[in-house]
Amino acid sequence: MPAQKTPQKRLIVALDVPTAAEALALADTLAPQIDFFKVGLQLFLEAGFAVCDALSKRGHKVMLDLKFHDIPQTVALTTAQLANHDIALATVHGYPQVVAAAAKAKGRTKILAVTVLTSLGHEELAQSGFAGTLAELVQLRAETSLAAGADGIVCSPLETALLRKKVGSKPLIVTPGIRPLDSARDDQTRTATPHAAIQAGADYIVVGRPITKAASPVTAAREILDEIG
Ligand code: C5P
Repeated sequence: MPAQKTPQKRLIVALDVPTAAEALALADTLAPQIDFFKVGLQLFLEAGFAVCDALSKRGHKVMLDLKFHDIPQTVALTTAQLANHDIALATVHGYPQVVAAAAKAKGRTKILAVTVLTSLGHEELAQSGFAGTLAELVQLRAETSLAAGADGIVCSPLETALLRKKVGSKPLIVTPGIRPLDSARDDQTRTATPHAAIQAGADYIVVGRPITKAASPVTAAREILDEIG
């Protein structure tokens, strides 16, 4: 874990809003205390790379969370599209074929492999046909993804300590599923507080609704930064 990172450099805010105008207004409200933003499927389908470019033009870092999962040729060609934009981090699902194809075509962007979505619990895993435990699957996906060339992994804060021990200090660990103590869990299952996630060894935490749906997003972000610090 890079101990020198300030709390500001550890928080990525998920701009899960429907339009570029709302996303940029939120980013402008949260800057300068936040300078790293995540663009997901909802916003990207509406606003495309234009919203990523607008964020980077403002000096922000962008995590593009489209979770690619397709045949190697499609993943490689799609990942190559990132080269014309300033995308710091991009996500793919943590299957070795997918990760290897993305890693080959990634350019300056760092590729993060999503291990197991933080909304999934043991029951959903069993329903999808996986016989083992969540921790086993997360560990398998993390290790095979890193071997296939991922720069880091996305996992829940509940698996972060174990994974950090297994993978060492170099790979990035990014954890969504973050909930301050007084926040609703919404559709997330494997959650922990910002402080617990950082203590467990996460490089970055990703926070959406606890900030974006707060009466004052600035106050909510400030409280999370204080908790991390
Ligand atoms: O609102 P909330 O804090 O739950 O948002 C979490 C964000 O992180 C969402 O944008 C979601 O798509 C993303 N994410 C996640 N679990 C993963 C990977 C990404 O919740 N495993």
